[in-house]
Amino acid sequence: MDDQTKIFLASGNPDKVKELKHMLEPLGCKVVSALDYSGIDAVEEDQPTLEGNALKKARFWRQKTGLPTLADDTGLEVDALGGEPGVLSARYAGESATYQDNVTRLLKNMEDKSDRKARFRTVIALAGEEETLFEGVCEGEIIRNPRGAGGFGYDPVFLPRGYNETFSEMSCAEKNTISHRGKALARVVEFLRIKL
Ligand code: IMP
Repeated sequence: MDDQTKIFLASGNPDKVKELKHMLEPLGCKVVSALDYSGIDAVEEDQPTLEGNALKKARFWRQKTGLPTLADDTGLEVDALGGEPGVLSARYAGESATYQDNVTRLLKNMEDKSDRKARFRTVIALAGEEETLFEGVCEGEIIRNPRGAGGFGYDPVFLPRGYNETFSEMSCAEKNTISHRGKALARVVEFLRIKL
């Protein structure tokens, strides 16, 4: 493999960039990200699906950088709410909602629901000479009272199937091995290992 292979990561989130670097650099890739570019506005995530948003971001940055580009989008899909908040997960309680606002709204909307089944779904788009989509899903349920202090977003109310700890109560490493994003990333890494 050519150790100069560069991959662009369409994210300005330092935690995501760190996680991806950790997984891609052992393949001999050099990872560059939106953190290395200033003065470019964030892409508006206005598509109706996770796939649409991931592809929109990946195409935008590929055009800007000329590099094969990875972009992701994640949503929490709750069965009793018809798949909501889904693609609107970041903005469930409004445009400038905090994680806490979103969790509060979710719990309120589920007050009278006995079916608590839910899943996180991550879609990662790779835009290069071809475009490829990767998916990772983590099934679980929404508990009634938040538990744990770690993680972010809906982690305190998400109990992954087969576990007694919420994502917030798990270590980062444990969460990564079973999470939607971890699974999608593992698929990307496998694809690149063969391709590069
Ligand atoms: P993004 O596409 O990764 O920015 O995720 C969109 C929204 O989904 C975030 O703002 C969070 O509210 C939620 N989310 C994404 N991933 C996770 C996770 O691993 N745990 C909890 N919430 C998450």
